[in-house]
Amino acid sequence: MEKFYITTPIYYPSDNLHIGHTYTTVAADTIARYKRMRGYDVMFLTGTDEHGQKIQRKAEEAGVSPKAYVDKIVDGVKSLWQLMHISNDRFIRTTDAQHVAAVQKIFKKLYEKGDIYKDEYEGLYCTPCESFWTEHQLVDGKCPDCGRPVEKTKEESYFFRLSKYQDRLIDLIENTDFLEPASRRNEMLNNFLRPGLADLCVSRTSFSWGIPVDFDEGHVVYVWLDALSNYISALGAFSDDESDFQKYWPADLHLMAKEIVRFHTLIWPAILMALDLPLPKKVLGHGWMLLEGGKISKSKGNVVDPVILAGKYGVDALRYYALREMPYGADSEFSNEALISRINADLANDLGNLVSRTAAMLEKYFGGTVPSARESGEFDDALIACAAQVAARTEAQLEAYNLSAALTEIWTLVGRTNKYIDETMPWALAKDETKKARLGAVLYNLAESVRVIATLISPFMPETADKIFAQLGMTVRNWADAAKWNVLPEGFTMTKGDVLFPRIDMEKELADLAAISEKKAAKKAVKSTATEQKAEIGIEDFAKCDLVVAHVLEAETIQGSDKLLKLTVDAGDGTRTVVSGIRAAYSAEEMVGKKVVLLKNLRPAKLRGIMSEGMLLCAAHDGKLSLVTIEGDLPAGSEVR
Ligand code: ME8
Ligand code: MG
Repeated sequence: MEKFYITTPIYYPSDNLHIGHTYTTVAADTIARYKRMRGYDVMFLTGTDEHGQKIQRKAEEAGVSPKAYVDKIVDGVKSLWQLMHISNDRFIRTTDAQHVAAVQKIFKKLYEKGDIYKDEYEGLYCTPCESFWTEHQLVDGKCPDCGRPVEKTKEESYFFRLSKYQDRLIDLIENTDFLEPASRRNEMLNNFLRPGLADLCVSRTSFSWGIPVDFDEGHVVYVWLDALSNYISALGAFSDDESDFQKYWPADLHLMAKEIVRFHTLIWPAILMALDLPLPKKVLGHGWMLLEGGKISKSKGNVVDPVILAGKYGVDALRYYALREMPYGADSEFSNEALISRINADLANDLGNLVSRTAAMLEKYFGGTVPSARESGEFDDALIACAAQVAARTEAQLEAYNLSAALTEIWTLVGRTNKYIDETMPWALAKDETKKARLGAVLYNLAESVRVIATLISPFMPETADKIFAQLGMTVRNWADAAKWNVLPEGFTMTKGDVLFPRIDMEKELADLAAISEKKAAKKAVKSTATEQKAEIGIEDFAKCDLVVAHVLEAETIQGSDKLLKLTVDAGDGTRTVVSGIRAAYSAEEMVGKKVVLLKNLRPAKLRGIMSEGMLLCAAHDGKLSLVTIEGDLPAGSEVR
């Protein structure tokens, strides 16, 4: 049996996972399920990346040990994957003893080979990204990946001879299809490989939450070397039993989003080259799910909770939405509105109605069983041809890992089949006794098309496929049958089932979701002011804040939000819009005419679709808000010091 080894990134358990992580895992699950249906011996791995400075700090903030901190989140991650019907064969934690031992052996082997050496590291570090940077790589003095401040670090470190592998890496990325989509290849070549790779710092001494270098006390292994090794340690590489490693390595596909492609296409292959191990066959870097223009990020706080969404609308609705909306290689904008539209249009209306109409008509006209006397007619060939074409194209898209395009294909058959109902008008045929055989053929074809669709959606929406197959009385599910017609046996019965996807009341749900997200944000805000350690700053740090007196000219409420007001203020150099979360304490009318303190140079952000430029200062106690206002007649734009 041919094997297929697929992985997701191992996620940081620094916070609960969100819809972005869910996308990657659901996408990997879909590919794994598809390959299993095609008869591959699949190994599907996911897990958690538990070491490093970021996690250590999070645990310190929460006042618990790092292990206790991650244990709780990892439980949540595992139950999220269970909820989402993720069929992973293994779950690796980098705190697993087997992984720890493997990483120590890898580190030692590289050291003994001379590919790791000791030196002193002096440079810059972005903790949220766990990335080293040089001064010239920074953008405006900040981390080029996430835009947050970097820290100076100077410590004795081990280095990996990444530079030694530069030419082989250039060849790998430039001349093979190792990295997809191809558009990401230039980024690696131009930004990293051609300017020249520096050796990589692979140990740290300034904190302890990591895998100890077993021959040099005080050093812990750099979290990315630790993390990347998971793909082989999970298979038992460098353990007493390497049989799965022999069987499944190299990986057929490492799936991830674009921001960590760099680690997987430069550092990871170089490590494998140094270890004389085969390279993964493919690294696929998908785009980001964006929320109001920015990446949905645990560290930014604008999280969309898959547990809530799946609980409200069903697992398959969420799987479908995520997979359908993320175009191959590009970003996709997440919104609750788009999610509900997709559910109502594609699932409730197109697919759900097709299945329920087919079952209802079969039952009504034939008691559920199609007669054997059937008469083919106009429109049949077009439907059958469409089904065959869609089956072939869906397979081709799945082979290319283009899941969104595969779903688009499948929905052309859903649409074509609904059109076939309109064309053949079974209700009209039913009125004419002499058209019984024609009606039989029409309903048989409808059921066949539903069967093909159920087969094709199986990897994407396993639960829905199960429900449809149950209605068709089928237990066997074979990918190859999707390309065939006349698979349903003579005398098969179709029974009506529950509504697959209930229609959603858009307005009511959007209001409901808005309320949930505001409650979450408020809770988080309270928590973060309570726990955030405020570091000492110098006057030069404070001087970065451009605080001015602003006059409120207009104020209005924002539909769907009971927290926010949209304000137009005069900041001395013209008017600007500020969205402020003060509605609980101030009405729009009350705000007009106030002289407030505005943080003018805050990075603009979209709130409720409105670009907000700046922030008003407020005092808060026990959930009560009070604006900082200016007494007397100071003009707008007056500096606040
Ligand atoms: O980077 N859109 O972990 P991480 C799409 N531990 N995908 C998203 C996403 C979004 N908005 N947000 C997250 C790490 N993801 C390391 C990985 S692997 C050896 C170590 C998904 O918790 C996407 O797959 O930051 C992305 O690459 C990954 O989560 C990052 O997860
Ligand atoms: Mg990340």
